[in-house]
Amino acid sequence: MEPMNWVCRFLLLWLVFSICSSPPFTAASSSLHPSAVNSILMHQNFTAISEFRVLNRRKLEKCSDSHPDLKIIVNTNQSLSDDEFVTVTVTGVSSPSDSDWVAMISPSHSNVNSCILNKFYYIQTGDTADLPLLCHYPVKAQYMKNDPNYLSCKSKNGSTCSGSLKFHVINIRTDIEFVFFSGGFATPCILTRSDALSFANPNKPLHGHLSSIDSTGTSMKLTWVSGDKEPQQVQYNNGKTVTSEVTTFTQDDMCRIPLLDSPAKDFGWHDPGYIHSAVMTELKPSTIFSYGYGSDTVGWSEQVQFSTPPAGGSDELRFVAFGDMGKTPLDASTEHYIQPGALSVIKAISKDVDSKNVDSVFHIGDISYARGFLVEWDFFLNLIKPLASRVSYMTAIGNHERDYDKSGSVYITPDSGGECGVPYEAYFPMPTAGKDKPWYSIEQGSVHFTVISTEHNWSQNSEQYQWMEKDMASVNR
Ligand SMILES: *[C@@H]1O[C@H](CO)[C@@H](O)[C@H](O)[C@H]1NC(C)=O
Ligand SMILES: *[C@@H]1O[C@H](CO)[C@@H](O)[C@H](O)[C@H]1NC(C)=O
Ligand SMILES: *[C@@H]1O[C@H](CO)[C@@H](O)[C@H](O)[C@H]1NC(C)=O
Ligand SMILES: *[C@@H]1O[C@H](CO)[C@@H](O)[C@H](O)[C@H]1NC(C)=O
Repeated sequence: MEPMNWVCRFLLLWLVFSICSSPPFTAASSSLHPSAVNSILMHQNFTAISEFRVLNRRKLEKCSDSHPDLKIIVNTNQSLSDDEFVTVTVTGVSSPSDSDWVAMISPSHSNVNSCILNKFYYIQTGDTADLPLLCHYPVKAQYMKNDPNYLSCKSKNGSTCSGSLKFHVINIRTDIEFVFFSGGFATPCILTRSDALSFANPNKPLHGHLSSIDSTGTSMKLTWVSGDKEPQQVQYNNGKTVTSEVTTFTQDDMCRIPLLDSPAKDFGWHDPGYIHSAVMTELKPSTIFSYGYGSDTVGWSEQVQFSTPPAGGSDELRFVAFGDMGKTPLDASTEHYIQPGALSVIKAISKDVDSKNVDSVFHIGDISYARGFLVEWDFFLNLIKPLASRVSYMTAIGNHERDYDKSGSVYITPDSGGECGVPYEAYFPMPTAGKDKPWYSIEQGSVHFTVISTEHNWSQNSEQYQWMEKDMASVNR
C-alpha cells in the first residue's frame, strides 16, 4: 500500500466527517434565537480546528533568548490533591508578549525520541498544516494574556514582569509539569519549565458512577477509577460489602490502520489506571441509600447518597435523556475538544437531582468527546460526578466513541480518534449483549428503553436488528 493513498484517503474521510458534523448554522441562523446562534458560533470556535490541536507533536525547542531570572512557580504543595485549582506564576519576564503561554503537560518530561513521522498521524485531528512534530502531551494550555495585568507589566520587579494563571487540576495519576512557552501555539519554543508535581495518592479511588444492571431497581453497579489493580470494595446500605472486578485497557487495544497511527494509540494516549466495578444488590427501588468505595490500602471515597430508580412496571419515572454533551474545562484553558454547554447541562440536571426530580439519566451517545485524547475521560468523569454518583447514568455509544476504519464500525470515519469503543465500554459497562455489542434494553417505571447502536450493523437481519425486533415484540402496552 502506498503511503500517499492512505494520506489522501484520510483527508477524504476527514472532509466527509467535517461536513457531516458541521451544524447547518448558515441556513438555520435566521430562525434561531440570537443566543442559540452565538452558542453555535462559540461551539464552532472550540470544536472545529481549535488552535490547541496543533500543539501536540510540536518540536519542543528552547527559545533562543530568555532572561536569566525567568521562573515558573506553582503555588501548591509538592503533592497535589485529587481536585484543586493551582496558580501558576511566571516571573523574570523581560518583555511580556501576547504569544506567551503556559501548558500543563503529563507525564512530565516524556520521551520525545520515538516519533518522527507523526505528521501523518496528526491529519486525523483535522489539521493539515505542515508541522514540525514531536511527541509531547499538553493536557491543556492558556495564554499568559489571560492575566489582564501581564501585557501591561502591572506586576513589576526591577526591570522584569510577572503574571499568573489558574489551572484546574484533577488527579490523573501521572505526574504533571507546567511549561512556559513563547511563540504562540503555532511556533512554540520553551522558555522554562516547572518541577514535576505528583499527586498525593495516584491510587485514590475516584469518579464513582452508577448504572442499572436490570429492570428491578434493586441492583446498582458502581464503576470507579484508581491507579491500583488490586480489587477494592463498595460498602453500602449500612454494612454490606461487595468486592470489585477490575479491568483496564492498553495502548495496544487502541485502533490504527496500516501506516497510520491514531491519536489514541499515539500522541493522545494516557494511562487510564484501573477501572473497578461492583454491583450492590438487595436494594429497594425508588429509595435512598449511601455508599463509599475503596480499600484500607488505597484509601476510601467520601460517603455518597444515591437513589435507586423505580422498578420496571411501576407507575412513574422522571428521567433526563440527552446526547452529545462532551465537557467544559473549569478554568480558562483551551483543550483539544471543548463543549461549552456541558457545564450548564450538568448544573441544571444536578439541581433537579438535588430536588429529587430526576430518577435516572440517559446519555445517548457522544459522551466525552475525548476522541483519542484519553486524559479527557478523567476530566469528563469528574464533571458528571454530581449526577452520575447519585442516580443511574445509562449510556449509548456514539460515533465519537466507536468509529474508526477497519475496526468494525458501520461508518468509516476517524471520529473516535482510534478509541474504537474500548475506553467507552470500560468506563460505562452497560447490561449489553456482549463485548462490542453495545445494545440493551431496560425498564424503569412505565418506560421500556430499547438502546441501540447506530455505529454497529443494524440493517435487516443483522444480529442487532434481530435483537431489536425481539425486544420490541416483547413489549405490550
Ligand atoms: C471565536 O473566535 C474568534 C477568534 O478567536 C473571536 O474573535 C470570536 O469572538 C469568537 N466567538 C465567540 C462566539 O466566542
Ligand atoms: C499545603 O499543605 C498544607 C498541609 O497539608 C496546607 O495547610 C496548605 O494549605 C497547603 N498549601 C497549598 C498551597 O495547597
Ligand atoms: C525580584 O528580582 C530579584 C532579582 O532580579 C530576585 O532576587 C527577587 O526574588 C525578585 N522578587 C520577587 C518578589 O519576585
Ligand atoms: C450487516 O448485516 C447484514 C445482514 O446480516 C449483512 O448482509 C451485511 O453485510 C452487514 N453489513 C456489514 C457492513 O457488515
